[in-house]
Amino acid sequence: MLKIENLPVLPQVAMRITERMQSPTATIEEVSSLIKTDIGLTSKILRLANSSYYSIPGGVTDVHKALQYLGFNTVAQLVLTSSVFGSFKTQGSREFPLKSFWTHSFAVGLFSEITARSLQHKNPSDSFVGGLMHDMGKLILMELMPDQLSKIVKTAQENHSSFIDAEKTLQLTNHAELGVELAKHWHLPANVTSSIEFHHQLDHPEASIVAWANLWVNTQKIGHSGNSGEYPEDLEPGFATKIGISAAQRGKIIEHFNKEFEKAGAILSGS
Ligand SMILES: [Fe+2]
Ligand SMILES: [Fe+2]
Repeated sequence: MLKIENLPVLPQVAMRITERMQSPTATIEEVSSLIKTDIGLTSKILRLANSSYYSIPGGVTDVHKALQYLGFNTVAQLVLTSSVFGSFKTQGSREFPLKSFWTHSFAVGLFSEITARSLQHKNPSDSFVGGLMHDMGKLILMELMPDQLSKIVKTAQENHSSFIDAEKTLQLTNHAELGVELAKHWHLPANVTSSIEFHHQLDHPEASIVAWANLWVNTQKIGHSGNSGEYPEDLEPGFATKIGISAAQRGKIIEHFNKEFEKAGAILSGS
């Protein structure tokens, strides 16, 4: 049985930094002094700033300068991604490697944010958070019920089905519902909670961006989240059209994602 009190806590410093970075009045000085209170985050940000993608002449040894080069948005993504995953103790398993799951989650977050920006949504970073966290229910299983997670992944492999269909076959609570418990526990905003709750309901208006991003990332096989199903070729582009994304816009979003995702390599490896 799932016990809410056994769920990990999201570090307060991560919540405060992410909140401040979304505010139009936040300054680099203020955010860098908040980051400096966390040694782990400081070293991750410096590692990212010194990665080959940025190739800053002379390198960077100070958070303030790193923020100027990386930008608020990239630093907010790094802080949240490493805090969310760092708050769990699990290392994953052979059939569900944490690293691949992390790649899947980050890719869905990034794709969702780029889509929200392209559709001129007011808070595209909320779409990043929703996308990053959409499958958190699986992380809860990994942490608290690893045998159940193995059973679902094996059932999906045997049936060549998706993770959620394997959950249905086994008559288990689905990971979207588990994720909602975590979202409540972490007091995440209502729109982020909806993205988690409805990410497998392709026709649900409150989760359409994250649902599309998840479908695209799964179709492209970026990372792994326990799915063994094959998707019909026209499903993802068809869904994009249905939610009002033209073929040209879809192409631009994918192009933008590929560029940004390359840069994200250091976020994923440095955590
Ligand atoms: Fe899912
Ligand atoms: Fe997913």
